[in-house]
Amino acid sequence: MPFLPLRTLPATGNANIAEAWLERIEDRLSRDVVDVASDRALLCRETLAELTYPEYAANWETAVADEKLPIGTRLALTGLDPRNITLEPEFYAECDDAKFQPVMPLLWLWYSFDRTVLGGQNVGLGVRLRRMLAKRIFKSCGENFKAFQFVEFSFGYNMEVGDNVVVHRHVLLDDRGGIRLANSVSISDFANIYSHTHSIVDQRDVTNALTVLDEGVRITYHATVLAGVHVGEQGMVGASAVATKDVRPYHVYVGIPAKSVRVKPNAPEPGTILRTSEKRDPR
Ligand SMILES: CC(C)(COP(=O)(O)OP(=O)(O)OC[C@H]1O[C@@H](n2cnc3c(N)ncnc32)[C@H](O)[C@@H]1OP(=O)(O)O)[C@@H](O)C(=O)NCCC(=O)NCCS
Repeated sequence: MPFLPLRTLPATGNANIAEAWLERIEDRLSRDVVDVASDRALLCRETLAELTYPEYAANWETAVADEKLPIGTRLALTGLDPRNITLEPEFYAECDDAKFQPVMPLLWLWYSFDRTVLGGQNVGLGVRLRRMLAKRIFKSCGENFKAFQFVEFSFGYNMEVGDNVVVHRHVLLDDRGGIRLANSVSISDFANIYSHTHSIVDQRDVTNALTVLDEGVRITYHATVLAGVHVGEQGMVGASAVATKDVRPYHVYVGIPAKSVRVKPNAPEPGTILRTSEKRDPR
């Protein structure tokens, strides 16, 4: 196969404006406030209003109360403030409000930015905004985290992420029971990583289980990793596979349920790979 590293592109014409915009958000997120959740909700509302309803950005409250405006416009304006919307994890019995309420405005900003003209497929700016937000959403987040558009989480606060982790478009990271991604993990488009499961008898009987991807793991396109699975170092889950059980280090698993079809040629000699239990800390 040809070696095709990513290209470096010249700065876009709006780079100065983008830089100033990111800096303003970073400054706002960095300041000391008493009520973090409310301050972030306001930041989210103001940021989204400027991007999507600039004519109402400076007078949001007046516009929401203005009965001369179409009712749908007023409702849409209220939705810029995360305190007026609900996200699915809030309905989960074990949702920890003390943890979720401060991260929820940042999740709403992340998801909503992805659905704007500026956001969406705009890779450079999106990656930088999401990196900034991830550091405040996740339990821990290493350097150079890279998330493309339309990634979704459950709580977000149960994510532990190492350095140089890449998450591609349309990935679902269900961190209900916790997801731990070690350094250099890569998750491809439309993959799903779960950490909760339901009883086949009673839907309300939920088991949360930490899902762990060790260093250098690659989960490829449209694959699914079920709750509690541990993918060993440099393990790979092939396209559309469903990993129902642990994946051995340096093995390539494919199919449903996923089974090993080969050991990577760069695997160390048998016996020199650390046992999976010794590789759980991503940092
Ligand atoms: C996992 C993957 C890399 C395996 O590639 P590989 O090591 O070259 O394996 P092979 O193509 O030799 O396949 C080995 C066997 O598994 C089968 N197989 C390979 N990928 C499969 C998949 N995703 N689902 C089901 N079976 C698969 C092959 O048909 C072959 O079966 P056979 O021995 O009966 O003929 C590849 O199939 C894949 O899913 N690629 C996804 C895209 C990708 O490269 N992602 C990485 C970057 S994100």
